[in-house]
Amino acid sequence: MLIDILTIFPGMFGGPFNEGIVKRAQEKDLVSIQIHNIRDYTQDRHHQVDDYPFGGGAGMVFKPEPISRALKAIRPPEALGRVIHLTPQGEPLDQLKANELSLEETLVFICGHYKGIDERIREKYVTDEISIGDYVISGGELAAMVVIDAAVRLIPGVLGDSQSALDDSFQDGLLDCPWYTRPRIFEGIKVPEILFSGDHQKIHQWRMAQGLERTRKRRQDLLRDSVH
Ligand code: ADE
Repeated sequence: MLIDILTIFPGMFGGPFNEGIVKRAQEKDLVSIQIHNIRDYTQDRHHQVDDYPFGGGAGMVFKPEPISRALKAIRPPEALGRVIHLTPQGEPLDQLKANELSLEETLVFICGHYKGIDERIREKYVTDEISIGDYVISGGELAAMVVIDAAVRLIPGVLGDSQSALDDSFQDGLLDCPWYTRPRIFEGIKVPEILFSGDHQKIHQWRMAQGLERTRKRRQDLLRDSVH
């Protein structure tokens, strides 16, 4: 998968993309990530990326030309594929969307700030608008990292067998069950006896029931839309 990111803060991506799963995916050549500084595509003396909104109001709007130039520098517009704008106005990210994105060969992310990007960029280039939740963060960068992490870990070969994504929370529409490791007793709390039974079918049933119970208690909304 080829991932291109348009941002005014390229330095923000260093930490998350140079550790853990996303780093390993790049090392295995399963993913290639290119970060483009929108400011490099300005042509004025002050390298201005944003401007006041027409009609007035607080906040600034990303100018369309630098973003359009940056997009054209990646690939010709007809070959851009999915162009994702991160915004609280977008479609909420969920596991289904992460699965869908993980199947793409290319993804382009536009990280906005302030009031967002000029509407004409959305009209002409953006294919998807994604929100990571009903709250506002300072810019699209952290949201892009969340979306990219959620999609990249689902690309076949990125996770080892021992970390299979098939067992993830939400992969079956439910929350995950509790997990335990050694020691058997920690600060007076015992690991449930069934996990030592060696009966894999029973253990599987117990885990499913625990996941279902947690979902009932914490996320009734997930049950309403599912077959459980
Ligand atoms: N930018 C600011 N807040 C956001 C959110 N919740 N999701 C995606 N992008 C954002």
